[in-house]
Amino acid sequence: MGLTGKVAIVTGSGQGLGLAYAKALAAAGAQVVVNDVDAAAAERAVAAITEAGGTAVAVVAPVGPTSTADLLVSTAVEEFGRLDVLVANAGVLRDRVLWKMADADFDDVIGTHLRGTFTTVRAAAIRLREQGEGGRIVVIGSPAGQHGNFGQTSYAAAKAGVVAMARTWSLELARAQVTVNVVVPTAITAMTATIPVYKEVAEAYERGEALPRVVRREHALGGPEDVAPLIVWLASDGSAGVTGQAIGVGGDKLSLYSYSEELAVTYREGGWSAEAIAEAWPSTFAPAGQPSGITLPPLDADAVAP
Ligand SMILES: NC(=O)c1ccc[n+]([C@@H]2O[C@H](COP(=O)([O-])OP(=O)(O)OC[C@H]3O[C@@H](n4cnc5c(N)ncnc54)[C@H](O)[C@@H]3O)[C@@H](O)[C@H]2O)c1
Repeated sequence: MGLTGKVAIVTGSGQGLGLAYAKALAAAGAQVVVNDVDAAAAERAVAAITEAGGTAVAVVAPVGPTSTADLLVSTAVEEFGRLDVLVANAGVLRDRVLWKMADADFDDVIGTHLRGTFTTVRAAAIRLREQGEGGRIVVIGSPAGQHGNFGQTSYAAAKAGVVAMARTWSLELARAQVTVNVVVPTAITAMTATIPVYKEVAEAYERGEALPRVVRREHALGGPEDVAPLIVWLASDGSAGVTGQAIGVGGDKLSLYSYSEELAVTYREGGWSAEAIAEAWPSTFAPAGQPSGITLPPLDADAVAP
């Protein structure tokens, strides 16, 4: 998993998951461009990486605009001479039910996650294609994007869009030997600590206590350090040939997501009338229907997956 000689950009790496990714990539030998809108957090991240013997510089700018994406890539090239890895991780939440969601909140979330991923990956792809030595792009999804989630119109849309873009880019960049994968993480961070059901779990984690098995397994919740090894593997030469995948990780769980498989199929000569659909629905389609939303067992559940 050695990354010596490689150069990585991690957006939103001042804290939380991004910070864990930047630290783990640097510990594996990569030189890292840290990015965040929070200047103090970005500087702390660089200091932590440097104190641990790694190499990092900070770019303080919001992802979304093309100018930030270009600055990230030019900093990697000017400071470290090249680019090998981009982890497009920066994100915000502005949760509201649909009928209370303001335009500005929708635009902020789409602008950071969806547009931010688009502009940074585009800038990285241009550089990686020019370099001609392949590369690694990791973008970040969410269970909300895979299943939908109450109160998360903008976030679910952005994260589902990130997966769709990554599947597309894995095709477009295959010839340049640039892999593009989605990590669907779950971890206790500032983002999850605000979810009421996880308040006690987050406090226990902060105190350094071991988390219950149901939390680490079915809820796939641990710390950011449980997610970072997947990023290191995807950044490494060891993951060559793995592309276009959406991989879930968190706590003790590692999983591979499907992408909009057809669950049931039937044909009718001449096409489908409304009446024929009504007749086919109960027997052919209703049994195959999937629930919307993320389904998890109660936190005190005794039953734990084998
Ligand atoms: N924590 C989880 O369980 C979880 C689950 C699914 C997906 N994710 C995703 O993982 C990523 C990281 O989440 P986290 O839990 O570490 O969140 P976090 O809030 O702890 O960290 C996000 C970081 O991104 C920075 N940021 C926000 N907007 C930015 C912008 N426009 N440009 C640059 N930096 C910006 C913030 O300042 C912060 O440092 C996000 O994309 C999030 O949606 C997290």
